Amino acid sequence: MTTLKGATNPHLPTPLVTAASEQTITVLLVDDQATVNEAIHCMLETEANLTYHYCSRAEKALQIATEIAPTVILQDLILPDSDGMTMVKKFRANPVTCDVPIIMLSTNDNPQTKAEAFAIGVNDYLVKLPNQIELVARIRYHSQAYLNRQAHTAALLAQAHAKELEQTLQELRQTQAQLIQTEKLSSLGQMLAGVAHEINNPVNFIFGNLTYIDTYVQDLMKLVQLYQDKHPEPDSAIQAHLEDIDYDFVMDDLLKMLRSTRMGAERIVQIVLSLRNFSRQDHQEMKPSNIHEGIDSTLLILSHRLKLGINVVKDYGDLPLVDCYPAQLNQVLMNIINNAIDALLDQPNQQKKEIIIHTSKINKNHIKIQIKDNGPGIPLAVQTKLFEPFFTTKPVDKGTGLGLSICQQIIANHQGTIQVISKPDEGAEFTIQLAVQSTVA
Ligand SMILES: Nc1ncnc2c1ncn2[C@@H]1O[C@H](COP(=O)(O)OP(=O)(O)OP(=O)(O)O)[C@@H](O)[C@H]1O
Ligand SMILES: [Mg+2]
Repeated sequence: MTTLKGATNPHLPTPLVTAASEQTITVLLVDDQATVNEAIHCMLETEANLTYHYCSRAEKALQIATEIAPTVILQDLILPDSDGMTMVKKFRANPVTCDVPIIMLSTNDNPQTKAEAFAIGVNDYLVKLPNQIELVARIRYHSQAYLNRQAHTAALLAQAHAKELEQTLQELRQTQAQLIQTEKLSSLGQMLAGVAHEINNPVNFIFGNLTYIDTYVQDLMKLVQLYQDKHPEPDSAIQAHLEDIDYDFVMDDLLKMLRSTRMGAERIVQIVLSLRNFSRQDHQEMKPSNIHEGIDSTLLILSHRLKLGINVVKDYGDLPLVDCYPAQLNQVLMNIINNAIDALLDQPNQQKKEIIIHTSKINKNHIKIQIKDNGPGIPLAVQTKLFEPFFTTKPVDKGTGLGLSICQQIIANHQGTIQVISKPDEGAEFTIQLAVQSTVA
């Protein structure tokens, strides 16, 4: 192998992004005749940005070509150890040289031979010895076209990689959001289930005792009454005590207090039920569920915020039980209602703040839940990003921007849909559609 202007390392890959005129053209001549090498060498010697390599033996040609990565190959048609056509096929079969332009050099000017050469994949055909100007022009033309193709392919590849990276990043963010939310959901669920369990025991014995207290009080009152009947004139100490404690009032109030204590205990039992219903730690699987129960427990969990001046209108339709993961669906309801509360509480001057929850059957197998608030609404620019993970318009300590993206994922897991309609100053309405009988495993 002979190297003429070998200023660049032939082992390095061809530079792809330099300006066309600055790119080095690398020529490899495969020819057994030393005189041809000398002649071609002479023709190319003074050319700028051109590196010339020579190989006299076919058996070495492929190895040299893969080492120097030529931008054009000048291939002799007849060689002692092989023929030029076979060499062309070998170059075309090799991944490094398969696209490199090949100019066949031959003393044979027969059109049939030329046609055969083109048929097996040569790019050009010159009769030996070619004219210097023509040879240089063809070498430059083919090399440039090859380099341009390489640059184009590299740009496409880079684009594809960038797209792939972007997609991976997107998936990572999605997974991260999902993990955070799953963690939030399970911690909240566990906490609620724990609180419900802790309250449940004491409330049970308060409730149980109340029944006995009720009976005992009735008995004692009857006893006092009997005493009063038998001894209508009590002695002065008893009389003084009766007046002291305001006996008639105490008896009347005691019954009232017992009634309200029972109501209070019943309310605690309801709350415990709702907490358990919300967390549904005991029902992690898809099961036919009462949507209204889910909404009610969610409203109960959020009641401390609703009490700050928001009226909730429940407009419930006649719904069948709906296949769902109840804890996940409750999480969706909570995110949407919480957002509505945030939007309404952010309007200190608004008089009538309202959330309307409407449920209805769409057809035999589909239902919808609509949650509408009369808050400030969602600007169009925000609507397009609403379901993106980490998109929030709230201060750092108030919102993570995960709520709606998780809602979308959960509803998608249920093979349902979630949509928003909103006009500025007319509030926002979120609509969830679900199949009554799910096909999700
Ligand atoms: N009912 C609504 N009225 C007005 N804007 C809303 C309403 N619901 C959602 N948005 C807007 O959508 C954004 C994204 O809501 P999302 O629930 O995904 O996140 P967030 O509420 O900001 O934070 P997070 O739910 O994680 O605490 C909110 O920051 C808010 O700008
Ligand atoms: Mg939210």
